[in-house]
Amino acid sequence: QVFKLEDYRPTDYLIPETSLTFRLSPEATRVVAVLTVERRGGIAASVPLVLDGDGLTLTRVAIDGRTLAPTDFFATPDQLTITALPAAPRFQLVIETELAPAHNEALMGLYRSSNVYCTQCEAEGFRRITYFLDRPDILSVYTVRIEALRHEAPLLLSNGNPAGSGELADGWHYARWHDPFPKPSYLFALVAGALGKVADSFVTLSGREVELGIYVEPGKEGLAGYAMDALKRSMKWDEEAFGREYDLDVFNIVAVSDFNMGAMENKGLNIFNDKYVLADQETATDADFANIEAIIAHEYFHNWTGNRITCRDWFQLCLKEGLTVFRDHEFSADQRSRAVKRIAEVRTLRAHQFPEDQGPLAHPVRPRRYREINNFYTATVYEKGSEVVRMIRTILGAETFRAGLDLYFERHDGEAATIEDFIKVFEDASGRDLSQFSLWYHQAGTPNLTISSTHNPAAQEFTLEIEQSVPPTPSESRKRLMHIPLAFRLVGADGKAMAFSSVEGASVEDGVIHIRKRRHMVRFSGVAERPAISLNRGFSAPVTLSVEQKPDDQFFLAGHDDDTFSRWQAFNTLLTDALISAFRQVLGGKRPGFASRLTKLAGKIAGDGTLEPAYRALALALPSEADIARDIGKNIDPDAIFSAREALTAAIAGANREIFSDLYDRLADKAAFSPDAASAGRRALRNILLDYLSLLPGGAALAARHFQSATNMTDRAAALTVLALRHSGSPEAVKALADFEVKYATDPLVMDKWFQIQASVPGPKTIDAVRALTGHPAFSMTNPNRVRSLVGTFSSANQTGFHRTDGEGYRFFVETVLQVEKRNPQLAARLATALRSWRSLEPSRQAKAREALLSIGNAENLSADLRDIVERTLA
Ligand code: ARG
Ligand code: ZN
Repeated sequence: QVFKLEDYRPTDYLIPETSLTFRLSPEATRVVAVLTVERRGGIAASVPLVLDGDGLTLTRVAIDGRTLAPTDFFATPDQLTITALPAAPRFQLVIETELAPAHNEALMGLYRSSNVYCTQCEAEGFRRITYFLDRPDILSVYTVRIEALRHEAPLLLSNGNPAGSGELADGWHYARWHDPFPKPSYLFALVAGALGKVADSFVTLSGREVELGIYVEPGKEGLAGYAMDALKRSMKWDEEAFGREYDLDVFNIVAVSDFNMGAMENKGLNIFNDKYVLADQETATDADFANIEAIIAHEYFHNWTGNRITCRDWFQLCLKEGLTVFRDHEFSADQRSRAVKRIAEVRTLRAHQFPEDQGPLAHPVRPRRYREINNFYTATVYEKGSEVVRMIRTILGAETFRAGLDLYFERHDGEAATIEDFIKVFEDASGRDLSQFSLWYHQAGTPNLTISSTHNPAAQEFTLEIEQSVPPTPSESRKRLMHIPLAFRLVGADGKAMAFSSVEGASVEDGVIHIRKRRHMVRFSGVAERPAISLNRGFSAPVTLSVEQKPDDQFFLAGHDDDTFSRWQAFNTLLTDALISAFRQVLGGKRPGFASRLTKLAGKIAGDGTLEPAYRALALALPSEADIARDIGKNIDPDAIFSAREALTAAIAGANREIFSDLYDRLADKAAFSPDAASAGRRALRNILLDYLSLLPGGAALAARHFQSATNMTDRAAALTVLALRHSGSPEAVKALADFEVKYATDPLVMDKWFQIQASVPGPKTIDAVRALTGHPAFSMTNPNRVRSLVGTFSSANQTGFHRTDGEGYRFFVETVLQVEKRNPQLAARLATALRSWRSLEPSRQAKAREALLSIGNAENLSADLRDIVERTLA
């Protein structure tokens, strides 16, 4: 079934109140739903009420106290249609269902994770609990009563505020919860079990005292401190940055170990993948700390952007996700280093969203069609969605943008809104017409700008010739012209901005060229010397650039651009260009060579004390094999890319041996561990230096010492990665892997790193190791974190291993995807996206990849989730 945006129609019935009673038991949980149903004006009583279900067992239906006869309704596991309805416009509907949470392996609806009952309802999981109008425009006030055996589940949580608890017969007890804010069913949540608690509190701007709780597996309370700290900082920041205050008496977070996604923003009761809650220096890396901070903030921020204002339908998913990602990006930028954060964001966007946009799964930020909504929780909806919000701020300016958002909160609080509503508040606040801009929501594909420049010294004129194009994407062969805000600067020989007296050919405001036509000739007058041009500063638009820029200018900008992002970009472009020509040399059977001014510049950046260590670490991180493949675009031979990248790494290491090794020694941390951004930056720089140094004589021994002397997981995991990837099979690598395994055998989240590192080892032999690891006692095909660490890493991050020439990587992929999909279709569909760029491979691999996709497509009883991905990927 295909769902279409234009088919949206409000429901005939509303459910203003929902009261749920759960009597929990692993094999047979009873759910009694008491719904106040209201017929909309103008709808006849003969119009049936049709409710969504998914695999449900119905035990009773009653209306206004009368149990319905079999002729009054029609029930299947997936739908309940009630035909005999009262004439009155408002009535009470009681529905009883029976569930087996212990057998729910899809992790949608009510399920068990390590003996804890928990729920995941977004997008359409609520219909696995009871029959309902399970769509986001049905807002209801929920009251929940949970009953459980006290010894099995001493803790009973749901949304909203506590509303009583007590004892029941035979060792049972109950708790009631009431959520005064009308909400869609996807925000419903319930947790019951034996959990440890970390408690704290927060006083809001207007003086509301909020009790905060983070619940974790008993014994792990000591690992929740950082998450709690991040939560309090998020609450404060949202008040200061956006004027948004929390609105309930309690805010609870529960960490569970089986979770399909990162986390979920259920009203007042966020449920998290424990990977994004639990951390200390011994078990978590700096990247883990940063992710925890960002995701805690993200889910908290959803309280306003998602919960108080929700989505009219799932086509509007980016309304809450793009905006909330934008908010969490801003939060992290304020808490850490803005420049470093921006570079990291852009790297992520390019690594995940660009390939999506440039392949068969491309879709607009606001899609018009879907078969399975779970497959649209994508980098496009989230990350590009955030970039679109950022561009609105760039176009309007920070103040007007904020006024627009204030208007959004004021106008739509308590509503289920659309992207049109969102754009309208910014038009109203600014008086601007954003209709051309809004194409960013409706048109898929990454726009490209081709830019060349000429300087006429006699006329003192500098001209930029800019041409935009948007490549065709599935079902959108013809594209309309976009409004692209391109931040720029003309840079003089002193590194400073060059003034110009006037400009014509495009509207230019505050350092931004507004590109709206196919071609612009932008003429700057009063420019005596030829400037270097710094383009798309701060990554003002998510586009690709084809710029004719002299290497001298590029080197100059890499050393002098005062926009940190652009400076990083200039160096990264030099590296990419060098890698691509090295790739061609490898294919031509030559040994690749590199300009010494490039390898020397790496050393200069590394040692430049005026730059933040975190920035220097990012600059030294070469484009990944996947980045290089994306930039090459077609006829990809992953082995040749690997050789080219290895050669450049070795050349940079060789050219900077002394600088790197001095700096490596000087950066050794003697202070006590702190997860703050500056300390993390120093570790990042030292660890990337280790990566280079490990290629020089004595490198394995150096990495082994780094591993042995590490006092935190960041350093330990970095050293283990260097040993396993650069010195695979060496005695040092074998020993470190074994030591790590013994030390962390009983800590699943740390073992994930161990799986991940081994799945990343380049080369044709890794497939055997990965297959063997699926039988490791710490591995499990039912836990999403384990599967993603081993199988996900191998298939989406190990270019040479996965794309082995004989297709063995693909065969393993087919087997595992099909095995996982029997239990957890959503996880399988995610894994299956690993082959989305199959068409850019060289012909022989391409044929084998296609065969693999076809054989998944031909499997029997394929879930809608997986079928959707495979068919779109092949189309
Ligand atoms: N809304 C959650 C978040 O971004 C993600 C939920 C994803 N659920 C899903 N079924 N794909 O914070
Ligand atoms: Zn979200």
